[in-house]
Amino acid sequence: MKITNLGTKERASFYVATELYKQILHKKESKLGLATGGTMIEMYQALVTLLAKNQLDVSHVETFNLDEYIGLDAEHPASYHQYMNNILFNEYRGFDPQKCHLPNGVAENPECEAERYETLLDEKGPVDIQILGIGQNGHIGFNEPGTPFESVTHRVDLTESTIEANSRYFDDKTDVPKQAISMGLRSIMKAKRIILLAFGPHKKEAITQLAAGHITTDVPATILHLHPNVEVYVDDAAMPDIV
Ligand code: PGA
Repeated sequence: MKITNLGTKERASFYVATELYKQILHKKESKLGLATGGTMIEMYQALVTLLAKNQLDVSHVETFNLDEYIGLDAEHPASYHQYMNNILFNEYRGFDPQKCHLPNGVAENPECEAERYETLLDEKGPVDIQILGIGQNGHIGFNEPGTPFESVTHRVDLTESTIEANSRYFDDKTDVPKQAISMGLRSIMKAKRIILLAFGPHKKEAITQLAAGHITTDVPATILHLHPNVEVYVDDAAMPDIV
């Protein structure tokens, strides 16, 4: 694992957007594992700019998002479906909706939906590049501390700290769903290449724990030390004091 401080969020976002752009350029049927959250906004904006400037054909690209809230349908403004539409799929035209996958948050049976999603990943995968953020508690996807490393896509109970962190996207904290469907840690590890982004002082502790190298389910992101091809890009504020 290589942790690189690119100084600012802008620079790191542009760098990672360029990596995604190059991936699509070199393989038009690329499979991308996508993440949501505040961290990713500038990266997607930079990607849209690059795609638009070069009019790249993305119709063969297949995308797999990490997670979706249980109880929010695709139209809900705080759903990850909407996030992806607003930031990427409606901003750069040409993605095939049939090839842009997220778990269905309103599936009648979330367990069956999780199973369907994992099977889809296995059939279509592996993902060429998986993009990840990190929670302040070290989660990746919605894999909260204590999640087994062998986990595949599953229904998760969100921790209080995650509900608190995500309440900024809802009118009221009580509106934040308590559960989600998330790719598991083993699902994430199947990707060929993983890029994790973390910005701001509130991510410094999680990155410090990741950099320490101790692999533990208490900090789910530490599983990434077991993957051969992981890059972490941070800004000054998220960079651990000693690496
Ligand atoms: P954030 O979320 O980008 O909104 O900080 C990241 C995460 O929780 O994985």
